[in-house]
Amino acid sequence: MSVRRLAEDRVQPASFSFNEENAAWAEKTIRKYPEGRQQSAVIPLLMRAQEQEGWVTRAAIEHVADMLAMPYIRVLEVATFYTQFQLKPVGTRAHIQVCGTTPCMLRGAEDLIEVCKHKIHHDPFELNADGTLSWEEVECQGACVNAPMVMIFKDSYEDLTPAQLEDIIDRFEAGRGGEVKPGPQTDRIYSAPAGGPTTLVDATSAKKTTAKAVPAGEETVHVPPANAGRVDESADETNPAVRSPANGKTAVPGGPEVKPARKRATPASDEIKEVISETAAADAAGKGPVDEISRDDKNRPAGIEKPATPDDLKMISGVGPKIEAILHELGIYTFAQIAAWKKAEREWVDGYLKFGGRIERDDWVKQAKALAKGGEAEYIKVFGKKPR
Ligand code: FES
Repeated sequence: MSVRRLAEDRVQPASFSFNEENAAWAEKTIRKYPEGRQQSAVIPLLMRAQEQEGWVTRAAIEHVADMLAMPYIRVLEVATFYTQFQLKPVGTRAHIQVCGTTPCMLRGAEDLIEVCKHKIHHDPFELNADGTLSWEEVECQGACVNAPMVMIFKDSYEDLTPAQLEDIIDRFEAGRGGEVKPGPQTDRIYSAPAGGPTTLVDATSAKKTTAKAVPAGEETVHVPPANAGRVDESADETNPAVRSPANGKTAVPGGPEVKPARKRATPASDEIKEVISETAAADAAGKGPVDEISRDDKNRPAGIEKPATPDDLKMISGVGPKIEAILHELGIYTFAQIAAWKKAEREWVDGYLKFGGRIERDDWVKQAKALAKGGEAEYIKVFGKKPR
């Protein structure tokens, strides 16, 4: 760790005080600690000072020390020890913290640092010409699975390519950082395997495992194999006979109490369901009775030869890598093709994928029309959000 010193006097403001809201928050925070231990609030107060000012000034250090009846040197020691505290002004629109620890380094962190050098300043902690951007290299931020990554303020941006980081920096510089969705910049869900689940995807074996866990003769609760071990939001927690067990174990009447999985209506569970649905559909696609699939073959959408640059069909909500591969097998490569599907064609594809009407529910045609017309920008205009 490099030597950390306070910024030069010429950039230090003459005074510091918390604004009204932060002052009330600071008083409340100090009161959380037992009598005689109020100094434990030093880190949260310094963090709040940094959030207010953008960096930790000498005046802020002295102000916090006065509030906590601490010698200035003690608060200075804390501020200079922890690298989370910025001791000189950083970019007003973004301070990019690039993780340079081994996993990120192995996955391309050096290229991300080159982007920062090129777009912001050759040296870390130096402002760009407008004073809006700065960068530094930091140690592991705990997102190694999704390396390489950067932190900007309190959000992390993961699975980055240099081009994506350039785009992110441009957006922050333009004051549009809020447009960038934090987390993985690929279709990965949190830190799940890239490209979708790689375990518990065999519905048959999951079913067998579930059945084995139940003593003979006792009634079992049906847990859809694809959801085994996952949150079942349709479960009725008040009725033990239909309680959805945690960890995919099967509940039996009169058996040992199994704690129900907690209901969570979060975007995460929606995303997980989407992946499960995609995987199940991909496994089932084309495997139905031949006559069932070929029966409506006249409605099968016309395919085309693979173009030099096929559209990224995964931008359509409901299409992941596996479904995209199946669509390619059907000769579907472009948004324009999907946008032109008639009802009968949509039904044929939906049946082929065993999607249960999802193509209509997710309105693939409307999505594809927007993407064909104007790409991501048009999609955002139509749907008010970025495509997945
Ligand atoms: S090594 Fe980069 S986040 Fe852990």
